[in-house]
Amino acid sequence: MVFDGGLRLVSANRAAQELAMLSSEAIGRTALEAFDRGNRGLAELVSRTLSSGRPHTGFTTEFIRPDATGIPVEASASPIEGPDGQTLGVALSLREASRLRELEEAIKKSERLAYLGTMAASVAHELRNPLGGIKGASQLLLEEIHGLPMEESLSEYLGVIIKQVDRLTGILESLRGLSRPGLPKTAKLNLHSLLDESLTLMAPDIKRLKLKIKREYDPSVPDIEGDENSLQGVFLNLIRNAVEAMSQGGVLALGTGIPSDFLYSTIKTEKGRKTMLAVTVSDTGCGIEPDALKDIFNPFYSSKGGGLGLGLALALKTIEEHGGTIKVDSETGKGTVFTVYLPVYR
Ligand SMILES: Nc1ncnc2c1ncn2[C@@H]1O[C@H](COP(=O)(O)OP(=O)(O)OP(=O)(O)O)[C@@H](O)[C@H]1O
Ligand SMILES: [Mg+2]
Repeated sequence: MVFDGGLRLVSANRAAQELAMLSSEAIGRTALEAFDRGNRGLAELVSRTLSSGRPHTGFTTEFIRPDATGIPVEASASPIEGPDGQTLGVALSLREASRLRELEEAIKKSERLAYLGTMAASVAHELRNPLGGIKGASQLLLEEIHGLPMEESLSEYLGVIIKQVDRLTGILESLRGLSRPGLPKTAKLNLHSLLDESLTLMAPDIKRLKLKIKREYDPSVPDIEGDENSLQGVFLNLIRNAVEAMSQGGVLALGTGIPSDFLYSTIKTEKGRKTMLAVTVSDTGCGIEPDALKDIFNPFYSSKGGGLGLGLALALKTIEEHGGTIKVDSETGKGTVFTVYLPVYR
């Protein structure tokens, strides 16, 4: 918005007219009149800029529109100088601060993620070789102590070293997965065998916690297209989370079907519309606090003592690479349902 030396509004661009809800009669009025009474601070900013001849920037306030709604804005006022340096008027620019802040947050988040990804990948890469060395040397030692009087306790210690090295290597693999671009290879896959295999991998924990398993598979569900290993990883992560949420026992249910939810029933791809399939992993465990729901897919968010917080971040990344998405419904104290949507095979 441009004001003249008498603080009268000379012009306002479209965005300013919309933001400030200026009517056509506003042109020619003074700042105070044009803004109505609610924006005395802004009117003062304009007059101060005019009298001092110096710019004022970064003034944050709430712009009160004629309909009494308030919009957080960042205002800057600059003097408009004539050929001899005299102040002829003031240019006032308003920026919607709420939109700005949202954008800033989004950019910061994606930059942070990209940075974390590259950082994690290089650290993971550097650590793999020495870990391999530690494991190799431990295995050699295990052979060397064969027949020694202390063999039993020594091999137990070495077993601990090897097991922990394997654990670290597993963590590094997940980190690398997070920064790996694209999918390695895709094939036609049967959802039910994928789910059953993931279940088998979790069998020891399921048995220990005496969990009840429900399989609600829809036999008519068609195959999907994807990378077997990474999808297996997704279901394993979801099932492991479900199992970890039911330390006091409960029911783990796996289901497949055509989504009833209209929003998720098809997606548009370059090959036309594709029908989506839904896989649900439900538990009757501790549930997720409403406040935490927005964070659970962030890398390194974990509420568990020994958790790394990478399971869901990896799962979401993989499913999105497959053209799908993940939805979560949870009630604290009752349980959680994760729904994975994946497009059908061709
Ligand atoms: N089924 C569930 N029930 C309750 N909380 C869950 C469930 N699944 C995920 N969460 C919450 O989301 C968080 C993030 O899960 P995620 O799998 O990403 O990390 P994690 O399980 O803590 O660690 P890890 O990297 O070993 O998987 C968990 O710490 C937990 O708070
Ligand atoms: Mg997990």
